[in-house]
Amino acid sequence: MNKKIFSGVQPTGNLHLGNYLGAIKNFVELGNDRNNHCIYCVVDLHAITVKQDPKLLTENIRETVATFVASGIDPEKNIIFNQSRVSAHAEAAWIFSCVARMGWLNRMTQFKEKAGKDKEKASVGLYSYPVLMAADILLYDATHVPVGEDQKQHLELSRDIAQKFNNDFQQENFLKIPEPLIQKEFSRIMSLRDGTKKMSKSEVSDLSRINLTDNKDAIISKIKKAKTDPMPLPADIKELDKRPEAKNLLSIYSSLNDVTLEKTISQFSGKNFSEFKESLIQVLVDKLDPISGEINKLMSNKDYLDRILDLGCEKANNIASEKIKKIKQIVGFN
Ligand code: AMP
Ligand code: TRP
Repeated sequence: MNKKIFSGVQPTGNLHLGNYLGAIKNFVELGNDRNNHCIYCVVDLHAITVKQDPKLLTENIRETVATFVASGIDPEKNIIFNQSRVSAHAEAAWIFSCVARMGWLNRMTQFKEKAGKDKEKASVGLYSYPVLMAADILLYDATHVPVGEDQKQHLELSRDIAQKFNNDFQQENFLKIPEPLIQKEFSRIMSLRDGTKKMSKSEVSDLSRINLTDNKDAIISKIKKAKTDPMPLPADIKELDKRPEAKNLLSIYSSLNDVTLEKTISQFSGKNFSEFKESLIQVLVDKLDPISGEINKLMSNKDYLDRILDLGCEKANNIASEKIKKIKQIVGFN
């Protein structure tokens, strides 16, 4: 079966190693398989659920496109576009917000984390954000959605919305039920400063993450400062459960080299962190330095990036406008 792939990344700056290993690396592999039809969306409507500086947002949209292309996504073979330019997303999100139930959204853990203590002051958009995500996916009849572990719950909500819409309007199989594609291993890359927290764009300390725009010197200095523990590296994988920082660094190394955690453990067991960090720096620089160089190069060619979006938006609009037309007819609008 040909897979229809859809995924999105928010243009909120600081795309990092977690985004790369949890999502973008997978986008590239799926995009290079000729049997797949892939659509990668810069989800700018999602970005404004928290305050954005308009000028910076425009730059970050381009930088996300540059990151996709620099990582190896071919803009000729795959559709790359930004969400705000395809109006069907906002329209479908409204209709689906009348299908989704409050109880479903109340269970979303990411809203609780992002809204923090002051829920009353969070935007309504931040709360209903998973409904917009469902609209993104369902408009394109996506069969598979590659994401990091943190998006699993939102995908389940998309499935529930699709099922309820199909049932409520007696339209069997009209909205396709999407499958998550989550890496079996390394789907959650942790902060370099605290192995129990997710690596994140919004973390204040830049030392907590490797940004995809970091150069060689920045990578070296961040890995040298990365938190570790006083013991040598273990021989037994089970020991890592009690050593989150060691587990995270070994996982990063394994994922970049496309090997299992077991293999990396057997390679480094008994060694101390300083020796392991040298090897980790080497693979990070080998894999990421070309990407950051290419992002910089592409960012100086804004016309090229804008052309990618123009073309992508046109193609996305052709698909989404047909689907929203049918959705509106089913609901009873004419
Ligand atoms: P976002 O930056 O929230 O737009 O996320 C873009 C993609 O990166 C999503 O598929 C996330 O699940 C994934 N992602 C974000 N942070 C991490 C992380 N620390 N580890 C693994 N995947 C991540
Ligand atoms: N919510 C996702 C995130 O924050 C981004 C996203 C928006 C997405 N729409 C999507 C991911 C559709 C997959 C499919 O990471």
